[in-house]
Amino acid sequence: MSLLIKNGRVITAVDDYHADVFVENETISLIGKNLQVEADTVIDASGKYVMPGGLDPHTHMDMPFGGTTSADDFESGTRAAAHGGTTTIIDFAIQTKGESTLAALETWHKKAEGKTAIDYGFHMIVTDMEDDRLWEMKHLADEGVTSYKLFMAYPGVLYVDDGTIFRAMRKAGEDGTVVCMHAENGIVIDEIVKRALAEGKTAPKYHALTRPTRMEAEGVHRAVSIAEVAGVPVYIVHLSCADALEQVTLARNRGVPVFAETCPQYLFLDYTSYEKEGFEGAKYVMTPALREKWNQDELWRGLRFGDLQSIATDHCPFCFKEQKELGVDDFSKIPNGAPGVENRMALVFNGGVHHGRISLNKFVELTSTAAAKTFGLFPKKGTIAVDSDADIVIFNPDRRETISVKNTCTHHMNVDYNAYEGMSVTGFPETVISRGKVIVRDTEYVGAKGDGRFLKRGLYGGLR
Ligand code: URP
Ligand code: ZN
Ligand code: ZN
Repeated sequence: MSLLIKNGRVITAVDDYHADVFVENETISLIGKNLQVEADTVIDASGKYVMPGGLDPHTHMDMPFGGTTSADDFESGTRAAAHGGTTTIIDFAIQTKGESTLAALETWHKKAEGKTAIDYGFHMIVTDMEDDRLWEMKHLADEGVTSYKLFMAYPGVLYVDDGTIFRAMRKAGEDGTVVCMHAENGIVIDEIVKRALAEGKTAPKYHALTRPTRMEAEGVHRAVSIAEVAGVPVYIVHLSCADALEQVTLARNRGVPVFAETCPQYLFLDYTSYEKEGFEGAKYVMTPALREKWNQDELWRGLRFGDLQSIATDHCPFCFKEQKELGVDDFSKIPNGAPGVENRMALVFNGGVHHGRISLNKFVELTSTAAAKTFGLFPKKGTIAVDSDADIVIFNPDRRETISVKNTCTHHMNVDYNAYEGMSVTGFPETVISRGKVIVRDTEYVGAKGDGRFLKRGLYGGLR
């Protein structure tokens, strides 16, 4: 099987040139001007960008959470991701307390295997890690699960104490793996939530008002400090605000290997979403919560100058009807999470490149290359180069779409609302190629269930 993409403008995190890209079977085999090669399929990419497929390192498909399960499974969620120009996700397997992490990995393999439209990997969410289980972590790394997520939030559910964090971090450091941290002081936040509910404050906006940015900053500070002593790189997930970013910057300036992602929701949405009429604010109940709008400029500054390395989605969709409604009388019962895997590339291109905040190269770095490096997938993923997987997006920089649950170009997620409803974007992924196979052609899905493969990831590949 061969494919020739002609006349496109090839953009990677460092390159920008016009060339043809020739793909044989699953990988790129030749890049050059006016290639004279026979191919089974030829795509003319004149006027379009030819970029590495997006890599979203933070999704939650089929995740039991908040008394229900996230609305996208690995089939619908990865198909939606493909529509949006994302060709790799890293999702999360979850260890339930007392269970072996290896058993948890098996459970998640069963959920995903044979279902996905695109390639996928797993981080392991660790909920307990006693000394007698530490050996499992090396075994997970050998199985290609080379990163863990630990939670300082959600006491009684996913929360782990500082001792567990330190034990897991020390072992992760020894093994050459990386720890992802949900950095928020969940213990203090729970106290604030209890007080609010006792005062009769039950509306969705209290989700945000009970989660001060200082408690995220405290979590980041603690995560970074423990990681520094444990000797492991730490990656702060879904960083939402200036207070937390300041802690990342301070640590990086000290030379600590701390990395961080933010998400489109923190760049394009803000606290005022919670003030919408009736129960509408529940659509935006996610953790961390949406912040005051001025934080967005600080996040863009962090992205531009390198203190934030990646943009992930934290895609964790719950339908407004029946799922978000679980918390109609009590904001603390609204399942936490929002959809976004499909809209990330277009939103970031529009808000970043089209509005002049970041360069084209930076766009690729933030949406694909940096995460591929951090999570042991580069240069197989995250770039356009000879021998890299042919995961390619043909992106039309001029195409305009209005994001809507009703727009058949922008919404394939299995959820009854879109968090970015009504936003216009300029720049849109039109054709998506996964390991040499066209899976989206001119915005139409032409792939098949099970096209995607599990990715055994390498050890931590970022800057030490
Ligand atoms: O609200 C969120 N973020 N839900 C998903 C779980 C998590 O904390 O990442
Ligand atoms: Zn989290
Ligand atoms: Zn998450």
